[in-house]
Amino acid sequence: MGIFITFEGCDGAGKTTQAKLLATKLGQTRDVLSLYEPGGTSLGELVHSYVRSHGSGEINEASVGQAQFDGMKDFDARVDPIAELFLFAASRAQLVSEIIRPALEQGRIVICDRFADSTAAYQGYGRELSIEQVTKMNEVATGGLKPDLTILLDISPEDGLSRVPEKKDRMEKQARDFHRRVRDGYLKIAEQDPDRFLTVDATQSAEDVQALIWNRIELLLKPQAEQRLL
Ligand code: TMP
Repeated sequence: MGIFITFEGCDGAGKTTQAKLLATKLGQTRDVLSLYEPGGTSLGELVHSYVRSHGSGEINEASVGQAQFDGMKDFDARVDPIAELFLFAASRAQLVSEIIRPALEQGRIVICDRFADSTAAYQGYGRELSIEQVTKMNEVATGGLKPDLTILLDISPEDGLSRVPEKKDRMEKQARDFHRRVRDGYLKIAEQDPDRFLTVDATQSAEDVQALIWNRIELLLKPQAEQRLL
């Protein structure tokens, strides 16, 4: 079996940068597959384009025509939080079965920028859905697959959102209270599973964050390296 590593955190925490840095460093000696959520499959990309475009200004009257634009605006406002939960779950179920499990079975290291903890934090704590329901949905979507290590880049909504470029997506446009709940939710999730989580203060420099992550990765890889020598 390979190793499954996920990055989590609020918008603007620097996950994507750190996930790429880690993939590059690990990729020098190991077979690494880099993924992100939602996405990575054609179904997942549909969900991704939904999250990215709706409410972001990328879709406007000129690009899709007035009638369709009005319909989409309505759609955005009408998406029920449970429907949203199913969208992320559908994307994840496809990614796990089509890409992640096969890669782990081939012994690869899979690094995923967001995974099930994002749903727990954003839909569970952020949207205030039942945590029990969200946990069950995550179990169904992942088939019980859990990361070996989850790196939580912790940052306040104020600091995080100040780093995000002007064009904010659907989630980034939520109210501050929403983002506070997401952050507190992440901290709670990490507290409940201390062996799986490494929580890093993301206000430090990218180099310092990278060094802390690397220390933990070395510990994670050590047993595998020792086994290879036997
Ligand atoms: P990102 O590409 O900036 O990470 O954007 C993805 C957005 O989707 C981000 O705001 C978090 C949100 N999201 C959820 O709400 N639930 C999920 O399960 C996932 C994977 C992402």
